[in-house]
Amino acid sequence: MQATVHVEDRGLQFADGVYEVCEIRAGRLVDERRHMERLTRSLGEISIPLPMSLKALGIVLRETVRKNRVHDGLVYMQVTRGVAKRDFAFPPSGTRPSLIVTARAKNRQQAEDSAAKGISVVTVKDNRWDRVDIKSTGLLPNVLARQEARKRGAGEAWFIDAEDCVTEGSSSNAWIVSGKTLITRPAEHGILRGITRMVVFDIARELKLRIEERSFTVAEALAAKEAFITAATQIVMPVITIDGRTVGNGKPGPVAQGLRARFHDVAEID
Ligand code: PDD
Repeated sequence: MQATVHVEDRGLQFADGVYEVCEIRAGRLVDERRHMERLTRSLGEISIPLPMSLKALGIVLRETVRKNRVHDGLVYMQVTRGVAKRDFAFPPSGTRPSLIVTARAKNRQQAEDSAAKGISVVTVKDNRWDRVDIKSTGLLPNVLARQEARKRGAGEAWFIDAEDCVTEGSSSNAWIVSGKTLITRPAEHGILRGITRMVVFDIARELKLRIEERSFTVAEALAAKEAFITAATQIVMPVITIDGRTVGNGKPGPVAQGLRARFHDVAEID
């Protein structure tokens, strides 16, 4: 059967919904528990009920992965406020939320090859709303930022706030390395609380790296030894240039590579 989307789905008409992306590794879900926690929180913040129990959703995700024969890749899930006659205010209570789940394979070797090269980032003004802690499907600023990155030959765009500090990437969290310290923006405000970011905190503890949760400027990033991004789609990806200027020695650094190498031993996989 073909999956379809109703023309009056509020996800389509208002981006009235939230989503999650989980990595699939050897057919298993990476960090399902934390992704489900964040999904539950995002839904709660905008008063959309869970479309089914988390246990049932876990089964749907695995079934989607299995039916699509995804060994390594990503599973995407989106929950919207459902289908209703177009009206800005919420539809009648009892309107069923819509659930979309897709799974797609990714070439692990290709990902490793690009991590061995590192990526370039460009900076763009952060023009998003102030609830980016909600993983909303309203991603137009992120789409435009990423297209700008592509236009300028880069793999990611970093959003810059009014104080000239990096908030995060269009679909990743941003980090720099100074000595044995990892610096990343606190997750209270202005960024998404990345699950990969949380796993990196755990790996850092194990590797005896310090973590400083604070904002950093582009100038500081350019003067740093290393920079990298984190996301379920990227794991830990070294950043080698920012706006065409070299970070560190212009090659992926040992700290980012070390974090990446440890990632799947520390993340929860099942
Ligand atoms: N994006 N910040 C933003 C704005 C993001 O969209 C994402 C993830 C992250 C990293 O979160 P996590 O480590 O939980 O993946 C940070 C997903 C992968 C996406 O939109 O495809």
